[in-house]
Amino acid sequence: MSLLEVRGLKVHFPIKKGIVLERTVGHVRAVDGVDLSVEKGRTLGVVGESGCGKSTLGRAILQLEPITEGSVVFDGTDLSGLGNKDLRAMRKRMQMVFQDPLASLDPRQSVSSVLSEPLRTHGIKGPYDARVRELLDLVGLPATAANRYPHEFSGGQRQRVGIARAIALNPELIIADEPVSALDVSIQAQVVNLLEELQERLGLTYVVIAHDLAVVRHISDDIAVMYLGAVVEVSPSEGLYDEPLHPYTRSLLSAIPIPDPEVEDTRERILLRGDIPSAAAPPPGCRFHTRCPWRQPTRCHDEVPLLRVPEGGDPGHTVACHWAEQVASGELQPMSAADSLATEPALPPAG
Ligand SMILES: Nc1ncnc2c1ncn2[C@@H]1O[C@H](COP(=O)(O)OP(=O)(O)O)[C@@H](O)[C@H]1O
Ligand code: SF4
Ligand SMILES: [Mg+2]
Repeated sequence: MSLLEVRGLKVHFPIKKGIVLERTVGHVRAVDGVDLSVEKGRTLGVVGESGCGKSTLGRAILQLEPITEGSVVFDGTDLSGLGNKDLRAMRKRMQMVFQDPLASLDPRQSVSSVLSEPLRTHGIKGPYDARVRELLDLVGLPATAANRYPHEFSGGQRQRVGIARAIALNPELIIADEPVSALDVSIQAQVVNLLEELQERLGLTYVVIAHDLAVVRHISDDIAVMYLGAVVEVSPSEGLYDEPLHPYTRSLLSAIPIPDPEVEDTRERILLRGDIPSAAAPPPGCRFHTRCPWRQPTRCHDEVPLLRVPEGGDPGHTVACHWAEQVASGELQPMSAADSLATEPALPPAG
């Protein structure tokens, strides 16, 4: 059964103008119609370039952003219908891990106080020493860490403290927003391993957000690729790497270096032209069409592609591209970035 279901979710932020910001002149469509589901005990990776709406999606799932349209259903309950008291009880079951989870904390707060804070806030009676020691042990930190301060730790250790804080209330779902993006590559693997180990021990369900496909590959059962507020492809992790279907996913994968120099020299590299368009004015039709090397007149411009299983494809692997079959078979060839620039005037800059 799905622990989390996101249906038709939209989060639009008003753009205000005027002396006292009294006029709404448009909306940033940060999340613009997202459907997702995560089974209990599984991990969904969410990837896409900076600004595509990943953090907003994560925060909206936890009801930390106002939802414009659509719903978030957690363990069978639609969260948008809940009053404050019920939402508080639900929030205990869902926690977030941030890129630098200690950045916002008072530097004079000891680790022991950081870890007991959620317990205190949710009305759990102290003393908390035993639980703090247990949490430190779970994340691989010594008991002596309790009396130290966040700035005394390395980046990887700080993230361990952040993870300990997130699991303090025995949550079921953890949304980890770029949990290793700020860490050295060698440390990234240790933190990813810790997350996997805790998932196994505590039966956790994860949504792991990253801007880099390489990071989520091993930890994710399924991966959703986002572009400009929308999900363009969802697949079991291996299927996505072995057979990416969406032109945007192909371009992301082609940017990951391959250690074997011979393969590296000969493989396809897809260069996208231009920047991500403004989320205040996403392109019509396929929102990727302004950068897509495979785009076709006039359908890509006129018709919004919906997530679907391509003909003869794996039912768990969906893609939002009109031409997924023709791109996969090679029947359609990508334009070079130069040709692409020549065939259509560049869009006005975002903003
Ligand atoms: N509170 C906000 N008010 C207005 N715009 C916002 C707000 N939060 C995010 N945005 C905009 O929404 C879009 C998505 O942002 P975000 O969810 O942070 O993307 P990501 O996490 O993928 O980098 C961006 O264009 C960003 O500028
Ligand atoms: S629908 Fe067209 S523009 Fe969009 S990804 Fe597919 S080929 Fe590219
Ligand atoms: Mg973000």
